[in-house]
Amino acid sequence: MNEHVSLVVNGVPREVDVEPRRLLVQLIREDLDLTGTHIGCDTSQCGTCTVLIDNQPILSCLTLGVESEGAEIVTVEGLARNGALTPLQEAFRRHHALQCGFCTPGILMAADDLLSRGSAPTRSEIVDMLSGQLCRCTGYTPIVDAIAEVARA
Ligand code: FES
Ligand code: FES
Repeated sequence: MNEHVSLVVNGVPREVDVEPRRLLVQLIREDLDLTGTHIGCDTSQCGTCTVLIDNQPILSCLTLGVESEGAEIVTVEGLARNGALTPLQEAFRRHHALQCGFCTPGILMAADDLLSRGSAPTRSEIVDMLSGQLCRCTGYTPIVDAIAEVARA
């Protein structure tokens, strides 16, 4: 039997009926049609499903949709405002910090969280954060460069 879930996603109140076993990433992608959040592994290895729940980065493939009752969620679609990229997204573009782009939504959300913690993260803190984010294309250097540039600014 479905359960009713009320939540706020990217600033918009949403109501959905979900099966108790349904994953949050399925709720986001299939019920809310926000397909920017990707499923890369389903086994908590890749980080590409990362979203913010109540300002905390979580793996939406490890979270049940019903656990998001009353929560505020931000997905990658919620970063840009009125079509304007954030400084972090601009830095990714400038540094060529993405190739296929599959990992990018999760990395952006995790980096956004790191940058929002007050003090500017060091390069090694950025590398440490990226240990939970799998990218098969870039070799990571441009990703670290992009995040470090925003941290310096
Ligand atoms: S899909 Fe969630 S960690 Fe890979
Ligand atoms: S840009 Fe292709 S997996 Fe990261």
